[in-house]
Amino acid sequence: MHTLTLTPPARSNTGTVIQIGSGALMLAKNLTRKYDRVAFLFDVGIELIAEKVMSTLGDCVRIPVRSGDASKSLTEVDRIVSVMLEAGCTRKTLLICIGGGMVTDLGGFVASVFMRGIPCVLAPTTLLGMVDAAIGGKTAVNVGTTKNMIGTTTHPESVLIDTELLQSLPDSQLAEGLSEVIKIAAMLDKPLFEWLENVMPQILKRQPDILEECVVRAVSAKVNIVQTDEHDQKERLLLNFGHTVGHAVEALSHYKLSHGNCVSIGMTAEMKLSDCKDSSRIEKFLQQAGLPLAIPSSMQPKDLWNVMLSDKKNENGLVKIAVPKHLGEGIVLTLTQEKFLTLFP
Ligand SMILES: NC(=O)c1ccc[n+]([C@@H]2O[C@H](COP(=O)([O-])OP(=O)(O)OC[C@H]3O[C@@H](n4cnc5c(N)ncnc54)[C@H](O)[C@@H]3O)[C@@H](O)[C@H]2O)c1
Repeated sequence: MHTLTLTPPARSNTGTVIQIGSGALMLAKNLTRKYDRVAFLFDVGIELIAEKVMSTLGDCVRIPVRSGDASKSLTEVDRIVSVMLEAGCTRKTLLICIGGGMVTDLGGFVASVFMRGIPCVLAPTTLLGMVDAAIGGKTAVNVGTTKNMIGTTTHPESVLIDTELLQSLPDSQLAEGLSEVIKIAAMLDKPLFEWLENVMPQILKRQPDILEECVVRAVSAKVNIVQTDEHDQKERLLLNFGHTVGHAVEALSHYKLSHGNCVSIGMTAEMKLSDCKDSSRIEKFLQQAGLPLAIPSSMQPKDLWNVMLSDKKNENGLVKIAVPKHLGEGIVLTLTQEKFLTLFP
């Protein structure tokens, strides 16, 4: 078992303890002892896994959530809070959230607002959740068709990453997570990128020790960035590689295209808009992971640009993108509409 601690700058002596390894979920019971009550939020798609963990916890408030991003809504927040209140949850309740990024975003948000905040444990079950969504304290729900419109930056007490769960993930979902791993490595960690290039066949075959090392190294790189810049002021912006164009593609597909696939498309487009020296190597790697590279031809360049402009990070008719200058060395660039349109000759 690997243990990492994420200590945000504002909290000098208490941090999030992140435990990574096969069987990490069974550590949940050790984390509940100091609380009066435990509420257990889980994605129904992984009910069997959730039941196994709940059986180790004794009495707890069971809160199933339907799979899919539609559950990341204020309506669901209302329902979950009502269930918790009816079950007698108080400020001394611990909320355990188990599922992919949908559940960790939703549950993290509920924990951050329930009675002005209760502690929570996140147990991500997808690769994307393990290396990205559950690390760094960003919680969110969608409003209408706008993704992640309402949220908080609130860190969990603990994150339990059970890498054994990666064995049951569908191939498409593994690829989604790899898109975020490749992003992290390309922007922050050249040795990680080079190691990934060498072990990609073993990753795709789900060799347990290699998957575990992949998660540990990607999480460590993200932890370092969040500890340096918790609130996206500087270094953390580098983790937006692929996300500016990617979010626009995701929105114009009406969220029918998945997040990880759109990030891969976004990374490819954003590298074309910069003079990234290693773009062909990164593109090759995305392809090897089974990820798409091209913006769907049905999407209009102007519509993409307008969605990008509406992002909270952009202003004055300009759009910011984060790209690797070289492998492991990310930079933030400002993009004009004219430059963006060069993508579509
Ligand atoms: N907070 C952040 O920093 C952050 C970062 C990236 C993404 N996100 C959010 O994460 C969400 C996407 O997360 P996701 O890709 O994990 O999708 P998800 O949570 O919707 O899960 C995808 C599917 O995988 C299934 N699943 C989960 N674990 C499984 C397992 N071990 N075996 C088999 N099936 C399993 C689920 O039932 C679901 O059907 C989006 O809402 C996105 O906005 C948040």
